[in-house]
Amino acid sequence: MSKVDALADLKKKMDDDKTLPLREGATQLVFGEGNPNALIYYLGEGPGFHEDKQGRPFVGMAGKLLDETNLSIGIKRKDVYISNVVRFRPPSNRDPEEFEIMAFQPYVDAEIQIIKPKIIVTLGRFSMGKFFPGERISGIHGKPKKMLWQGLDLVVIPMYHPAAALRNGNMMQSFKEDFKIIPQIMEELHKTEQISLF
Ligand code: URA
Repeated sequence: MSKVDALADLKKKMDDDKTLPLREGATQLVFGEGNPNALIYYLGEGPGFHEDKQGRPFVGMAGKLLDETNLSIGIKRKDVYISNVVRFRPPSNRDPEEFEIMAFQPYVDAEIQIIKPKIIVTLGRFSMGKFFPGERISGIHGKPKKMLWQGLDLVVIPMYHPAAALRNGNMMQSFKEDFKIIPQIMEELHKTEQISLF
């Protein structure tokens, strides 16, 4: 099955899964989107107002910042894959609860297994928690870690959430600075694994 078909299949399974939390208060499911062959997979927190209305991840102010920061390092949105730990908008944009994140986890894992990225960038503390449980984002943001995760060789980079960067000038500076590690890692992968940059 092609990656496109596998992703469509997974989306249908999520649409049909009536056990998923947060569905009631949301307009629609916000599935991941982007290049199915992306080297970079961005994992955010959950849909906000605009994402809920449009059914697409990171299309509001935080998404604009994510797109601009990617462009500043030469990466276009169409080259990456963007997703979230929860796929229905939490009421009033509240933080997702642990049980909600866990309910969506098998789908997030399946999506990563379809894309098979080389780099995962976690955006914010909730997605950081998937790969760095018990860590504090202030201590590890911008520090890449190589890991073997469910059979995939990954470099995982925890980053601040762009919405947090929009609220706090210091975080904005760190957010932009932290992204500069991405082309360096891609260059390294290019050398060691003969992977083309896109
Ligand atoms: N914030 C997120 O974490 N995800 C989105 O899709 C939009 C805003």
